[in-house]
Amino acid sequence: MSDGIRVAALDDIPQGEGIAIDKAVTGTADDIALLRDTDDSVYALDDTCTHGDASLADGWVEDGYVECPLHSSKFCLKNGDVQGLPATRNACPHRVEVRDGEVYLFPG
Ligand code: FES
Repeated sequence: MSDGIRVAALDDIPQGEGIAIDKAVTGTADDIALLRDTDDSVYALDDTCTHGDASLADGWVEDGYVECPLHSSKFCLKNGDVQGLPATRNACPHRVEVRDGEVYLFPG
């Protein structure tokens, strides 16, 4: 079984924010937004908002959701479900694990 792809150190991601990981690193169709919630749990979603050309990694992360920086739709960190217009399509989630302060991505 795969150990995942090491994509960042936990300390690279400020609490309540995100960082984008280039698809050349992850091998995914889109860049990946690594998002660190206010409780320090880490999640991964496709980085491009499903509504427009915005990076979810530039959004605000709080209480289980990331808010798009452009038009403020919110996406559930766990499953990518959209909450609130103008976006209507869910974001694609990816599994992550944090081990010994390192963040591993399991694209899928
Ligand atoms: Fe994200 Fe419009 S670009 S809500």
